[in-house]
Amino acid sequence: MNITASSSSLSPVQEVHPVRDWRPGSWRQYEALQQASYPDEKALGAALAKLADLPPLVTSWEILSLREQIAEAQAGRRFVLQGGDCAENFAECSSPLITNRLKVLLQMSLVLVHGLQMPVVRIGRFAGQYAKPRSSDTETRDGKTLPSYRGDLVNSIDFSEEARRPDPDRLLQAHAYSARTMNFVRSLVDGGFADVHHTEYWDLSWLEHSPLADEFHKLTESLGQSLRFMETITGRDVGSLRRVDFFTSHEALHLPYEQAQTRQVPRQWGWFNLGTHFPWIGMRTAGLEGAHVEFFRGLRNPVGIKIGPGVSREWLIGLLEKLNPGREPGRMVLIHRMGEAQIESRLPPLIRAVQDSGSPVLWVSDPMHGNTESTGDGIKTRRFHKIMREMELAFDIHRDNQSRLGGVHLELTGENVTECTGGARDLSDEDLKRDYKSTVDPRLNYEQSLEMAMLIVRKHSLNAA
Ligand code: PEP
Ligand code: CO
Repeated sequence: MNITASSSSLSPVQEVHPVRDWRPGSWRQYEALQQASYPDEKALGAALAKLADLPPLVTSWEILSLREQIAEAQAGRRFVLQGGDCAENFAECSSPLITNRLKVLLQMSLVLVHGLQMPVVRIGRFAGQYAKPRSSDTETRDGKTLPSYRGDLVNSIDFSEEARRPDPDRLLQAHAYSARTMNFVRSLVDGGFADVHHTEYWDLSWLEHSPLADEFHKLTESLGQSLRFMETITGRDVGSLRRVDFFTSHEALHLPYEQAQTRQVPRQWGWFNLGTHFPWIGMRTAGLEGAHVEFFRGLRNPVGIKIGPGVSREWLIGLLEKLNPGREPGRMVLIHRMGEAQIESRLPPLIRAVQDSGSPVLWVSDPMHGNTESTGDGIKTRRFHKIMREMELAFDIHRDNQSRLGGVHLELTGENVTECTGGARDLSDEDLKRDYKSTVDPRLNYEQSLEMAMLIVRKHSLNAA
């Protein structure tokens, strides 16, 4: 079993030539949606200048290695697992939270590697996921109206004038928290995370509650055997065999922050956003003539685009033309988030549009964001069976349209929170009141995340049979 694949064995991605008429700040000539409005322009300028001087969070060669791995995934030889919090916050930059999140992602990836029989590209929604788009610029409570909370990158969630005022110092803090997260993740990954590779240490008590308990038991037993076999023949701990790759991603929403971390590097042409390996454009800011698309046009990073049910064929073709005119492999990742009720009608025409364009893309399913609803008590939640149904439909629709689903994008945490209902333990609306921590979107908890990984494997094998 191939636990990790060496990226050095890959052929380098061929890229055409640098983008013309683009500068890291050329987005300023376009309309930028969802931006914070800072009362003190001078303080903002000073913070951005400082940010532009700080060392980068990632390197150009890591970014290029991810591009190669995405190109491999486009060719059907890898699967992408992208996951993490809806929003990170500064207060939760702590050892147990980071460790548990990394653990669940690694455990899920082992389940996927074993079940799909291919290497998995692991991308965390972390080390920079601090900015959030909002449906309204302001929030009113008891007759008082204040700016909306836009994520810890911009302001504080507390409801006071002072807390909600956009504070440029937070841009520097976000860089520092991202660096702390990144540093700890790199150390954990370097250390091999040995116990993650022993399925007997995993908490699988939830499994008994699943109607698929027998099947899932067999799956974990067979995974455990494969890992033990690897250790036996190599005489070494699997975790220490080779350093696993872990990439970071976030929604590159706050354009001044992203621009300040966009740099040129020696012996490479073009510009890299060195604040993350894999920035994505959210659904609300993906307008063809908007500032976000302009900013992304000049980056050499792989680019994620969230695709919602409102997207047209013309828009998608225009977007591919703009962001990937050279039709380079490894560049474009389309993350669809239609909702289980809409995916069957919305996705097939877009798959055809991409096929007609001849542009290489990696299709990834985000089964979370189209399935958000409120309970009778007004609690934001997502139903596990709907998330699962959208994920399963995504596999089927791609297969039936001669396309391929090459990855999943999930909002999850390594904690046992109660934010999404359902799953093996069948969490109810009442359970949501017990351990609901998210200040933004509801996440799959540890158990639900592992269950989702097993369901992906199950769906994949059913379709392959
Ligand atoms: C998100 O990923 O948290 C998000 C806001 O997604 P979308 O842009 O797809 O709504
Ligand atoms: Co979200």
